[in-house]
Amino acid sequence: MSQLETPLFDALLKHRNRHPIQFHIPGHKKGQGVDPAFREFVGDNILSIDLINIAPLDDLHSPKGAIKKAQELAAEAFGADYTFFSVQGTSGAIMTMILSVVGPNDKILVPRNVHKSIMSAIVFAGAIPIFIHPEVDPDLGISHGISAEAVEKALVEYPDTKAVLVINPTYFGIAADLKRIVDIAHSRNIPVLVDEAHGVHIHFHKSLPISAMAAGADMAATSVHKLGGSMTQSSVLNVREGLVSPKRVQSTLSMLTTTSTSYPILASLDTARRQLAINGYDLIDRTIRLAQDARKRINKIPHLHCVGKELLNSSATFDMDPTKLLISVKNLGITGHQAEEWLRENANIEIELSDLYNILCLITIGDSRKEVNLLINALQRMTETLESDAVVIEPVVLMPDIPRLAMTPRDAFYATTEVISINEAVGRISAEFIMVYPPGIPIFIPGEIITQENINYIHMNVAAGLPVQGPEDDTLQMLRVIKEQQAIR
Ligand SMILES: Cc1ncc(COP(=O)(O)O)c(C=O)c1O
Repeated sequence: MSQLETPLFDALLKHRNRHPIQFHIPGHKKGQGVDPAFREFVGDNILSIDLINIAPLDDLHSPKGAIKKAQELAAEAFGADYTFFSVQGTSGAIMTMILSVVGPNDKILVPRNVHKSIMSAIVFAGAIPIFIHPEVDPDLGISHGISAEAVEKALVEYPDTKAVLVINPTYFGIAADLKRIVDIAHSRNIPVLVDEAHGVHIHFHKSLPISAMAAGADMAATSVHKLGGSMTQSSVLNVREGLVSPKRVQSTLSMLTTTSTSYPILASLDTARRQLAINGYDLIDRTIRLAQDARKRINKIPHLHCVGKELLNSSATFDMDPTKLLISVKNLGITGHQAEEWLRENANIEIELSDLYNILCLITIGDSRKEVNLLINALQRMTETLESDAVVIEPVVLMPDIPRLAMTPRDAFYATTEVISINEAVGRISAEFIMVYPPGIPIFIPGEIITQENINYIHMNVAAGLPVQGPEDDTLQMLRVIKEQQAIR
């Protein structure tokens, strides 16, 4: 098999070209039962391969044919022993990764700034999270990776840890010294699981941070859909055999996955892998050059700062992905959210995310000089329009504290609870997740003791118009807490 081949996409085309008479789901039958306006918009091609796991098309739950071959080619491209396709995003791959190595009361080392899918998996597993403080950047108001030193310290303190989870690179493109973290964990026979949601491309270019598989990690949940050119929801779970069992991974994935897997999504993984393997280096090389040029030009705009390699000074901030344009707007006297709205309303630009102090713009293999010029031009106009109000005083950057865990997230999730006013919640144990989304990082998780500082942080985000999500009461007046006070140990 060669990386030029796309066995799953080819099997779908071959099947479609036979024009079989279908007496199976999906009931729209090659688009004929689809609402005409939608059908006309999306076209017949995609509807004709919207099929189901009949024998010629293999089955993601027990692959033996075209899907198996497509996964084998992906494993070769990503440097993994096994690759499993996910049609449930990296969230699904992350849950599989965690549930296949930890169970009830097992300890797992995790950075605090984890995506909610990691905490969900910890609740499902009944595992105990041992949080590691990520390195915090007080100037940008964001968290980075975890340091190798912190991992080592945690493993000395908790030698019975069953797995170490690392986010690499972070949403903002900052990578830790992953190789060192892997070596530290492996010296104790502990598997390393990597949330590589923002790093599918790093494996395909030498000047990007080291990928999870290249660093020797045991598993990596990697969003091909985010930066690798496949369709939304498609991700891969890359696995190295040894400390984890690929058979267990396959059965866990199957437990968590819909039985109606989308073939257009799976085919887009197969073809994105080909593109990355064959043309990835050149496409990413061009992307890096576009982004570096944009970074230089943004840094010439008064009051704006686009973060670069000057940030790298520890094993938590060891390397960076230059294709992420993290732009601090705080010296312009506006929040990241206000910048996002300005760009939407005045330049028809949609960015990846904003927070209190920054905006994040992604340059990808889908961009050209034209889009970069439009962004620079809009940022220049935004600055000229708003600079008369630019605040000279440096704002105080607040980061949420990591609250103390009083009971396991699973116990808290299933405990008897009550709803009380947020103003009376300090000192009580949270029964819900509260996070700012994006990037979906928890402020409180079930089981944590609610602190005044973190309630202030929630209010600050709400006041700045940022989306605080999670609580049942989305007005954030009320919080669900554990009823029994004696639950605090
Ligand atoms: C760090 C991180 N991990 C995991 C995910 C989940 O990825 P997906 O949206 O593919 O489920 C995200 C999504 O934004 C993320 O930012």
